[in-house]
Amino acid sequence: MKKCNDHFFDFLVSHAKIYGFIFPSSDIYGGLNAVYDYGPYGVELKNNIKKFWWKSMTHLHDNIVGIDTSILMNSEIWNASGHVKKFNELLIDNKDSKKRYRPDLLIKDYVDKNFSKNSKKKENILYRLFESLRKKDFLDLRILLNELNICDPISKTKNWTKIRVFNMMFKIKNESRKDLFLRPETAQGIFCNFHNVKKSNRMKIPFGIAQVGKSFRNEIFSSKFIFRMREFEQMEMQFFIHPKEENKWYEYWKNFRLKWHLILGNKANYQLRDHDDLAHYASAGADIEYHFPFGFKEIEGIHSRRDFDLKNHEFFSKKKLRVYEHQKNYIPYVIETSLGLDRTFLALFSSFLKKEKLKNGTIRIVLKLPYYLSPIKAAIFPLVRKDGLPEIAKKIFNYLKINHKLIYDQKESIGKLYRRQDAIGTPLCFTVDYETIEKNTVTMRYRDSMEQKRVCIKDISKIIEEETGLDKPLRKLL
Ligand code: GAP
Repeated sequence: MKKCNDHFFDFLVSHAKIYGFIFPSSDIYGGLNAVYDYGPYGVELKNNIKKFWWKSMTHLHDNIVGIDTSILMNSEIWNASGHVKKFNELLIDNKDSKKRYRPDLLIKDYVDKNFSKNSKKKENILYRLFESLRKKDFLDLRILLNELNICDPISKTKNWTKIRVFNMMFKIKNESRKDLFLRPETAQGIFCNFHNVKKSNRMKIPFGIAQVGKSFRNEIFSSKFIFRMREFEQMEMQFFIHPKEENKWYEYWKNFRLKWHLILGNKANYQLRDHDDLAHYASAGADIEYHFPFGFKEIEGIHSRRDFDLKNHEFFSKKKLRVYEHQKNYIPYVIETSLGLDRTFLALFSSFLKKEKLKNGTIRIVLKLPYYLSPIKAAIFPLVRKDGLPEIAKKIFNYLKINHKLIYDQKESIGKLYRRQDAIGTPLCFTVDYETIEKNTVTMRYRDSMEQKRVCIKDISKIIEEETGLDKPLRKLL
């Protein structure tokens, strides 16, 4: 039987498609596993999340600058970064369904589903998993899978192959030259431009470089919609510091990033978890986890990468990547914050998509996003399609559309127009009616309370700016 959360998740996926937020990639060809496209409202929401992140990082911190580096890079970079040798995951096949899985994720999902948060049994299983991974004892992992009776969700059998290791990077054939890789993290573009940015922008330690961009990983266990994709977007920032200040900045960035998330959503949905299984480049790490409909999962990683990357790039590129300060040469340490844009999108979508029972007994679907993230800031309607009301509404729309992302609609009755805007998360609706002709006022309706009041046409622009602008949330971060 499906659990309530599964039903909600199915509803969320279907809502995202019906209302033009997210479509399966290559839909008319049957889709492509773990790859998705963003529709008209999806791209607006995604851009608004990016804008909020970008401003929080590069506008509010005057020692952080932005960059936009290429996806394709010299192949040697991936040897230096350790990704060619160490960016590996485990895989296992089910001989009956012919489906491929990550055994560590099968076990983690199993314990999440079957045990409560602080259960001793859960802790023991996770400890054994962690130890087997650490010792690379894949036989014990295979035995654990068996002991827990974990079956393939499709064939429902335990007919598993041996566990193997595979590299997560996508390789591109490059004719007679060295093969290229699609970057699995945006960070390496930042490390390789450390000196270019430092010199051109006269940056002094401590300083940061931020970027938003696509990353690619050949994920085997791909499910849960846009949570784990093969092509996804990251918002990363590398903060270059003096080694003595590692602890200070690691704590600063953990706190700042958590504060950022808490501005977006409910405190109970977020938790900070120290890493036990560190990535090959990190000496310390913590995840900010979000309570998705399928449990608490990582949304952002904060790592201390120390001098791992710059040191290796120095060695492989034979170029000095040091700073000279107080008559001393040193390789800076790096604290990294790495947020998944698509996971942030999914977190917001699952947190704010609601089915609400109204006083009259009907149900409305409403996407209660923070106003400043909503894809459309306001909708302008005529009450009826006659008596000059559409002309006035269109005139207001055309005047305001330069400064705000708006929608003009007259295709349905006013009640249905409101419902559609609720479903895509539009915070404000302005309706032109007969009083508009006499008094130059319109009816303004709030999405969340559904309250209505009259406002002057001349005030609409200011109201939209005040209600939906980034000013208030950004000030909370100061
Ligand atoms: N540069 C460090 C780094 O890439 P990570 O923990 O592997 O660290 C950072 O990834 C963030 O990128 C994750 O917290 C997650 O939000 C996002 N991410 C990673 N793999 C992903 C995938 N396959 N699909 C969607 N988002 C992913």
